[in-house]
Parts: sequence; structure tokens; C-alpha cells
Amino acid sequence: MIVAVDGPAGAGKSTVCRLLARELAYTFLDTGAMYRAVAWALSRRFSELELAQPMPHPPADEDFPLRFEIQNEDLRILFAGRDLGDEIRDPEITRLASRVSQMAWVRTYLMDWQRRLASDGRVVAEGRDTTTVVFPEAEVKVFLTADLTTRARRRFNEYMAKGIPVDYASLESQIRERDEADSKRALAPLRPAPDACIIDTSRLEIPEVVRLLVDLVRSRDSG
Ligand code: DC
Repeated sequence: MIVAVDGPAGAGKSTVCRLLARELAYTFLDTGAMYRAVAWALSRRFSELELAQPMPHPPADEDFPLRFEIQNEDLRILFAGRDLGDEIRDPEITRLASRVSQMAWVRTYLMDWQRRLASDGRVVAEGRDTTTVVFPEAEVKVFLTADLTTRARRRFNEYMAKGIPVDYASLESQIRERDEADSKRALAPLRPAPDACIIDTSRLEIPEVVRLLVDLVRSRDSG
């Protein structure tokens, strides 16, 4: 059983998927973390300037010793054998990840890894194009969404909780612009798969969304 979850920023995907995977005792395949890992690995070997140009091919294997594995239902990201942990969450890597995710070879490279990692099933795969491109045959496909105001308010509260001051109005317009760009981009645009179950989380609390998804997976599993 593969559960694939897609949707715009701020719909609650990561939190919901992490909890859903735990509840089902599945692996949470955080594909965003894999894009971040590629960005981190490239930043180790190439300068800012080199990375500003689109890179047509993957680097040679010895320059790019990145590996992914699943251990006790957890995705581990290793670079030359070392676990990368939270280094991939740096703001600089976040920026670079967005850029590298638009390179065609990166998407193919990670799609191959994602399919390999999910080959035994029991995976909750979260991220752009998991429902449309990577796992079009997934038994459960979900598009989590929420209205713009709700998503902006959630992001605003996340920043406040971390003590980072932000302006609500500019946050909302950033999210609007990102939605627009995301749905129009050539590679892996943001859109629900035709057979995805669309769930609007605007008026739902996280445990309610998780419960809905657990029920959905169990009903497919027994059917
Ligand atoms: O979800 P995140 O912020 O960790 O994702 C990091 C970057 O990777 C973000 O720019 C979106 C991109 N991404 C992607 O293009 N395809 C995915 N399946 C997951 C993430």
C-alpha cells in the first residue's frame, strides 16, 4: 500500500503525513527532504555561481556520494556515509532546493530513488508530484488543501511560535505568488491527480485530518 499526498504550502501536509505514517506504522517518505539533500550535496561540490546555471547532467558518482535508506520506518539521508540530519533545513538550503527541484535530472534521479524506497510498500509519500508522476498507481492519493487565509495564518503562527517576526500581509501575498508560480511551472506543476481525494483542511484540526486519512487507508486496505 502506497499513500501519496500532495497539495499547496500550508495545507498541513508534513505534519499530517508524519502523524499518519506513525499511526499506520508506515515509513514517512518526506520527498522535500530528498530535494533538500540534493541541494546540500551540490552545495558541497559546486560554487554559488556554478549552481546559478542550470546543470544538464548529474555530477559524477564520486562527486555526489548521496544515498537514501529506510531504517526502522525512518528515511535516512547519507552523504559519504554521514547522516545529514537537520543540516538540510538551513534557509540557504531551502532556497537552493527550490532551484534544484526545477532541474530535470534531479527530478528523474529522485523519482528513481523514491520508487526504489517504496518498493516494499507501507509508505506515506508526501510532496509535489507524488500523486501524479512518482506514484500514479498509489492505492490512496490525497490532495490536501486549504483556503489562502487559513494557510497564511498557519504559516504566520508557525513563525510566531519560533519567535520570528513576520508581516501577515506580505506572508499572504508571498503564498499567493508561490501558488501561482507553482501551478504554472513546467516541471511538476502543482495540481491534483484526477483520481485524488481532495481534502480541504481549512475548518479541520490536524487530528481530524489524520483520522480521516487513517479511515480512508483502512477502507482501501480492506477493500
Ligand atoms: O517541502 P519542502 O519545503 O521540504 O521542499 C523543499 C523544496 O523541494 C521545495 O522548493 C519544493 C521542492 N519539492 C519538489 O519540487 N518536489 C517534491 N516532491 C518535494 C519538494
